Amino acid sequence: MIHPHSIQQILDTVPIDDLVGDYVKLKRSGSRFKGNCPFHDEKTPSFVVTPSLNIYKCFGCQKGGNSIQFLMEMEQMTFVEAARDLAKRYGITLMESEGPKGEEAMEQQRQKESLQALNEFALTFFESQLHNTEEGQTVALPYFKERGYTTETIKEWRLGYSPQSWEAFYNHAKKAGYSDELLLNAGLIKKRDSDGKIYDLFRNRVIFPLVSVSGRVVGFAGRIMGKVDKAPKYVNSPETSLYKKSDFLFATDKAKNAIRAEDYSLLMEGYTDVMTLHQAGIKNAVASSGTALTPGQIKLIKRFSENATAVYDGDKAGIKASLRGVDLLLEGGLNVRVVTMPEGEDPDSYCKQLGPEGFKEFLKNNEQNFIVFKANMLFEEAGSDPIKRSEALRDILQSISLINDGLKRDALLQELESISQTEVDLLRTEVSKILHKKTRTQERKVLREVDNLISDASKLANKGSSIVEYALNDKHQEKAILEFVLKFGGMEFDEDNRIIDFVVEEFEQDQVIKFKDPTYAKIMDRLMEIHSERPEWVTIKELIADPTVEISSFAANILSEEHELSKAFEKNMISVTTRSENYKNEIYDLFLHLRRTKIEELIIEHQKMLGDEEYDETEVLDFLNELIRKKSEIASKIGAVVTRI
Ligand code: CTP
Ligand code: MN
Repeated sequence: MIHPHSIQQILDTVPIDDLVGDYVKLKRSGSRFKGNCPFHDEKTPSFVVTPSLNIYKCFGCQKGGNSIQFLMEMEQMTFVEAARDLAKRYGITLMESEGPKGEEAMEQQRQKESLQALNEFALTFFESQLHNTEEGQTVALPYFKERGYTTETIKEWRLGYSPQSWEAFYNHAKKAGYSDELLLNAGLIKKRDSDGKIYDLFRNRVIFPLVSVSGRVVGFAGRIMGKVDKAPKYVNSPETSLYKKSDFLFATDKAKNAIRAEDYSLLMEGYTDVMTLHQAGIKNAVASSGTALTPGQIKLIKRFSENATAVYDGDKAGIKASLRGVDLLLEGGLNVRVVTMPEGEDPDSYCKQLGPEGFKEFLKNNEQNFIVFKANMLFEEAGSDPIKRSEALRDILQSISLINDGLKRDALLQELESISQTEVDLLRTEVSKILHKKTRTQERKVLREVDNLISDASKLANKGSSIVEYALNDKHQEKAILEFVLKFGGMEFDEDNRIIDFVVEEFEQDQVIKFKDPTYAKIMDRLMEIHSERPEWVTIKELIADPTVEISSFAANILSEEHELSKAFEKNMISVTTRSENYKNEIYDLFLHLRRTKIEELIIEHQKMLGDEEYDETEVLDFLNELIRKKSEIASKIGAVVTRI
C-alpha cells in the first residue's frame, strides 16, 4: 500500500551507515565502512556498508541489501513494517498508493488499522481483568497456575480473562468511544437475532491472544475453565480482515527465530501445547489451532524452514484427520517427519511428564518418515479387507513416486514390504510403471522444445559473436540468466519483444526450462510476477526496493559488483568488458546452455535405465540416441553463436 515513490525516497534518504551504525560498530575504510557482521559470528570484519549506493553486504555470509532489508533482517520485520519504521525514524512522510484501486485499498487499510487498535484495546482489557480484578485473581489466575504456567509466561503471552458478565467488555468499549459496527466487525460482541440485544462474545473464559507473525493481535481464543460438557471448550474470534484462520499459525511470532536457527519447526495442535513447550525452552513450536494444516499455513511456516516435524496427540481420530495435512506439506515442498504422542497424551502433558530434555529425546527417537507413518495408518485401518488394502497400497506408491531420489525411494519400498506384506520386487515394478508413464510424457515435450530452440538459434547463427563463456553447471547458468535479465531486461530483443518478454516466454512455454536453485527459482518467479504486473520493465535500482528479499539482495549484489569493477577500473585502468552490442546473442546462448544441461541430465538418467529390466531396452536406446544427437546439435549452435575468448 505504500507508494513506490515513498519506498524509493526511503532508500534514497536513509543514510545506510547511520542506520547500520545503530546496530554495528563501523569503521571507515575509504569510501566505505566495515564492521563485524551482525548476521553471523565473526572475528574479522567482512561486513561492508557502501553509503554511495546505500547498500550493505557481508562477504562472509553473503547477506546484503538496502536499508529496508537491513531492518527486516535485524528486527525480523515485514517489508511494510520496516519501511514504516524507517519513515518514522528519519522523518519521511509516506505516500499511500493511488490509482483506480487506491481509494478502496486505503479504506481497507483504515479498516484494518481500526480493527488493530480495537484488538489491542480489548487485549489490554482482558489482561487487566486477569491481573487487576478480584475475579481474575481468584478464578482465572489459579487456572493458569494449576496448568503450570509461570507468571512470566502469563505476561509474555499476554494471557487474559473475560469476566462472567454479558456486557462488561461492551460497556467498557462503548465508554471509550468504539462504535457497535466496529465491535461487531471485530467479532468481540454479538447481536441477538430475536431482540437485537448486544452481548460479549467472550464471557467467563481465559483468553489466549492470537498474534500474527509480526506481533500484532489479530484475534482471541477463549477457553472454558471448568468442565467442557455444556459449552464448547474454545470460543474463537470470527475471521476478519486481520485474521484468516487458514493462514494463521499460533505463536509464529515467538517461534520464528528458533525455527530459523534450528532449521525445523514443530507443528502441533493446541495453544496450550505450544505454550508449555516454549516455557520448557523448546521454542520452535507453533500450533495449527486443531485443524488439518492448510496450504496457507504451510506457506507461512516454509518462510522460516523447509523442515517440519508434525507432532500429533495420541488419539486416533486426531491423527487420521491430520494425514491430509501431511500430504499438503509434501506438495508444498516441505521435508516432513511425524511423531505421535503415546495414547492419551498430548505434547503439553507429555512434555511436563518427561521434562524438556526427555521430551526432545522422545521426539528424536520417535520421528518417522511421513510415508512410513501413513502406510502404517492406512494398513492398520484397512485390516484384512483386500480391496481397502490395495487402495492403501496404490495411495502410498503414488506418494513414493513423487520422491526424486531413487535411493530414498527404494529404502521406503523396503520398509513398505513388511507393512503391506507385499514382495518388495512387486512394489518396485509398480513404482517403475508409475514413473515410466510420467517420464514418457515429459520426454516427448523435451524433444519438441529442443527442436524449436535449435531452429530459432540457426537464424541467429551468423549474426556476430559474443565474448562470455559460462560455467556449465545449472547454478551458474541460472545466475547468469538472472543477472542478464536484471541488466538488460528492458532492452530490445526483436521488433515486438524486449529481452524480458523473451525470457518470460521461455519459462512459460517450456517445462524443461526450470531453475533448480530455490533462491534463483524464487527470484525468477518474482520477475515473472513483475512482468505481468507492469508495462515498463524495472530498473535494477527499483528492484533493490522490491519486497522479495531474495530479489532485492540479488539486485544489490549486482550493483555492488559493478561498483567494485568500476572502482578497479578507475584505480588500475583495468579495462572492463561491456556487453552492449551482443546481448541478443548472449541470451540465446544462455538458454542453449541451459537446455544442453537439461539434455545431459536426461542422458545420464537414461543410461542408468539401460541396465534395468523394468525398461524396454530398445526403446531406451532409441531415445538415448536421439538425445545424444540433439546434444551435439545444440553444442554446434553454441559454437556458432558465441565466439569464445
Ligand atoms: N480447538 C478449537 N475449538 C474447540 C476445540 C479445539 O478451536 N472447541 C482448537 C484450539 O486451537 C485448540 C486445538 O484445537 O488449541 C487443540 O484442541 P485440544 O487439544 O482439545 O485443546 P488444547 O489447546 O490442547 O487445550 P487443553 O490442553 O486445555 O485441552
Ligand atoms: Mn490438547
